[in-house]
Amino acid sequence: MILDGNLDASVQAAAQALQRGELLGLPTETVYGLAADSDNDAAVAQIFTAKGRPANHPLIVHVADSTAITRYAKEVPLFAQQLIDAFWPGPLTLILPRLPHAAKASTGGQDSVGLRCPSHPVAHAVLQACQQLTPPVWGVSAPSANKFGRVSPTTAQHVATEFGDRLLVLDGGACAVGIESTIVDCTRGQPVLLRPGAITRDDIERACGLRPLSKEELPAHTPRASGTLLAHYAPNAKVRLMDARQLQSALDLLSADGKNIAIYCRSPLKCSSPAIVLRAMPEQALAAARELFGTLRDFDELGAQLIWIETPPDTSDWEGVRDRLQRAAAAG
Ligand code: TXA
Ligand code: MG
Repeated sequence: MILDGNLDASVQAAAQALQRGELLGLPTETVYGLAADSDNDAAVAQIFTAKGRPANHPLIVHVADSTAITRYAKEVPLFAQQLIDAFWPGPLTLILPRLPHAAKASTGGQDSVGLRCPSHPVAHAVLQACQQLTPPVWGVSAPSANKFGRVSPTTAQHVATEFGDRLLVLDGGACAVGIESTIVDCTRGQPVLLRPGAITRDDIERACGLRPLSKEELPAHTPRASGTLLAHYAPNAKVRLMDARQLQSALDLLSADGKNIAIYCRSPLKCSSPAIVLRAMPEQALAAARELFGTLRDFDELGAQLIWIETPPDTSDWEGVRDRLQRAAAAG
């Protein structure tokens, strides 16, 4: 059932559902989450079941404000605090050392916890209402509200389509960011970028004075985690990334019947087949991120079997979009 997330009554009902151990479709500024009380292991277990997600892939704990950090994290290094001051509330998740008894099922028992304070007004209202309940719900675990490995949802309708009518979903409109939060591991003495997003590597460096390492720069034995799997974010169609020249050559080779092919590109291309769906990718990385997952879903709905996408520029602002596209392509 979809509820208007902007009404006080809906927000209260949502907070109480979380307190009772139920699941909730929660809008955030990045993507919609499938939410449950972080400290209710049975509720969190339902998230893993509903998503079909392996239990060793830890979930992010969402909090109303930075005071809730002390309920989950053992310590906050100086550079992590600088990132919190600069970007919370907002699309940034920090991996911090975990307090022993906090969010056990959410973190798969790992000794770290991922914390994020979302800026979406509906998410914020729900998290605040949760804190005011008796007993309070301090943290809300919420992976993206899609089946494991599939495209993340950016509207309430996407969530309802994925999980059916029985799930309570708060409608907070279309997500403004459109790709998942930037994840920075703060447990290794210096920032490590685990997942690129709207807050870029350059932004992080500016805020704390340290250039984040890539996970590839870590020693080989470091454990890997979920959204970091190579094949992820997959639409039903097969995705291929190409530069503009390759794309044009591929188009030239097609006869007039290039059916079931969708193209998403920034450069102007010549295409003689009317059967091909051609959509322009926005010039700006933030705008491209906002519509990325919705576009992949649209292509699936149009029956595309192949999606050819122009590789985005190799700059810091495009890193998040590039990452999602590379992983969608790896899944095919
Ligand atoms: O934007 C977002 O972050 C969205 C919205 C709903 O807030 N949530 C989201 O959650 O993307 P999910 O579960 O799809 O991605 C969680 C990511 C995974 O890559 C997971 O491995 C990583 O966070 N993660 C969570 N806790 C971690 C930990 N303790 N150590 C390492 N990685 C962790
Ligand atoms: Mg996800």
